[in-house]
Amino acid sequence: MKKTPIAILISGRGSNMNALIEACARPDYPARIALVLSNNPDAPGLETARAAGLDAVAIDHRLFPRDRDGHEKAIDRELTNAGVEAICLAGYMRVLTPYLVGRWQGRMLNIHPSLLPAYPGLDTHARALAAGDAEHGCTVHLVTDGVDEGPVLAQARVKVLESDTEQSLASRVLEQEHLLYPAALATFLDKQ
Ligand code: GRF
Repeated sequence: MKKTPIAILISGRGSNMNALIEACARPDYPARIALVLSNNPDAPGLETARAAGLDAVAIDHRLFPRDRDGHEKAIDRELTNAGVEAICLAGYMRVLTPYLVGRWQGRMLNIHPSLLPAYPGLDTHARALAAGDAEHGCTVHLVTDGVDEGPVLAQARVKVLESDTEQSLASRVLEQEHLLYPAALATFLDKQ
């Protein structure tokens, strides 16, 4: 079967990346990881990726002060050189400019820890708890210029419990993220 070469962009621990690594290791999974890339050279996920035998590079945004375009052009060069055909943002904590979003329009996915359109941005679990929501969850969506606004590809729901803290809710949502992202990516690629 054709395995589409993908890149995963991370900034931190990379647990969603790890779920994608495990999925891509399956012979019947429609993607392979051509590159892991981080804006943060200290992202623990880079070591995880290298330990799995993957190419993992850091392009430190701090080396491009006041030059977001320069940073994104450097990222784009790496993606192109690696032959990437689709991108998964997985805890990538920089807002992308219209330049990179436009270059990869319709081929860049993100996972967000809320049931979008509820709670774009940060602190989603605390906001869901503060609002008294009965349900919370996560969303895989296509990336567009608006932050966390692109078309929804898939969602997973969790019930909010009386006893939930921000941490307990985050950890139940994260379990769902690890199932949802590989499944949503496979469905997306199968439709291409
Ligand atoms: C996840 O909750 C993801 O939804 C959000 O950032 C977090 C990244 O976690 N975009 P990890 O680095 O994948 O563990």
